Amino acid sequence: MRIGNMIKWVSGLFVLSLAVSMCLHQAHSEDAAMILGKKVFLELSEPQCALCHTLADAGSTGPVGPVLDELKPTADRIRTAVTKGIGPMPANTILTREQVEAVALYVSTVSGAK
Ligand code: HEC
Repeated sequence: MRIGNMIKWVSGLFVLSLAVSMCLHQAHSEDAAMILGKKVFLELSEPQCALCHTLADAGSTGPVGPVLDELKPTADRIRTAVTKGIGPMPANTILTREQVEAVALYVSTVSGAK
């Protein structure tokens, strides 16, 4: 093999493996956020979202707020409700930004908003 071809081949392989690892990384961090989001919904929020909301994926049947499977709120709408509160729903005071993002991704995804 000529040295020029060899270099092309090696650098092609490098770019390809970089692309694959970037995709894997993205999928991996999205999975992690979904897992964290479910945990926020069921455990980490205070009071817990699950106490007030029904969401099939989380197995919750809270009767106070809207049924999220029917409302299908977008991530934006969830973020706003959680950070500012809405009506009788209290604004979050303990979740980190990452946890708010995770619950917004989780609820919007499993309720079918996106
Ligand atoms: C104490 C009960 C309670 C808790 C805890 C609670 N909610 Fe709510 N939530 C409500 C009520 C009641 C409404 C309806 C408010 C209204 O429309 O006036 C609501 C509305 C919403 C909405 C719809 C907002 C809109 O734009 O109409 C979303 C999305 C939502 N809640 C998500 C969450 C998430 C996520 C959590 C946990 C971080 C949570 N809620 C915790 C009671 C609660």
